[in-house]
Amino acid sequence: MNDTASIEHPTSLTGGDFTEAVEPWRLFAAWFEEAKRAEPINPDAMAVATVDASGLPNVRMVLLKGFDERGFVFYTNLGSVKAAELEGAPKAALTFYWKALQRQVRARGTVEAVSAAEADAYFASRSRMAQIGAWASKQSAALESRMAFEKAIAQYTAKFALGTVPRPQFWSGYRIVPVEIEFWQERLFRLHDRVVFRQGDAGTWSKTRLYP
Ligand SMILES: Cc1cc2nc3c(=O)[nH]c(=O)nc-3n(C[C@H](O)[C@H](O)[C@H](O)COP(=O)(O)O)c2cc1C
Repeated sequence: MNDTASIEHPTSLTGGDFTEAVEPWRLFAAWFEEAKRAEPINPDAMAVATVDASGLPNVRMVLLKGFDERGFVFYTNLGSVKAAELEGAPKAALTFYWKALQRQVRARGTVEAVSAAEADAYFASRSRMAQIGAWASKQSAALESRMAFEKAIAQYTAKFALGTVPRPQFWSGYRIVPVEIEFWQERLFRLHDRVVFRQGDAGTWSKTRLYP
């Protein structure tokens, strides 16, 4: 996108200048609502970075399935590479990029498991096919062929033909508990607005404007 097409004064649910916000969660909620209206596909997609045992970073997209003052929640297979990495180093960074709004949100912090009740509630809300897919996928393990995957899906479809599909013990969620959340808005001529909130003592946030 060229400079002249950039958003100079983005209309916002936050009603004016986002850099005036005093805490990050209400601002995130407002931006996420706007992203859901503006982005046709996966406004909830975020890149989540972890590190392996050698310190080599790894990053992949996941879907944000919940957030509140405690953090950002996503769900995954506990046998996956990301889960092993989070086991070894329970810290992560995440980034959203909402192209239609020319906005980026970044956060980083510690990672904790969601409760079994929380994971059960989310799993129950998924479509039956997605529930079966969770059983059939040994996420991140080598798969010999598409056919082998489809066979596993057929087997679990038969196994759970009646009644509800229970949540597999190897499938649950993580909450990224941020110590920092940064908001970035594109402005004309690359003169972007950028503010970072840092977690202080007793749940307070300090805000710093940064050069873009
Ligand atoms: C838009 C998008 C959304 C995704 N959402 C999830 C998700 O919510 N959970 C998940 O485990 N994988 C999700 N994936 C797949 C991951 O990017 C990744 O391929 C998979 O989790 C294995 O990663 P790992 O080997 O690093 O554990 C998504 C991929 C894309 C492109």
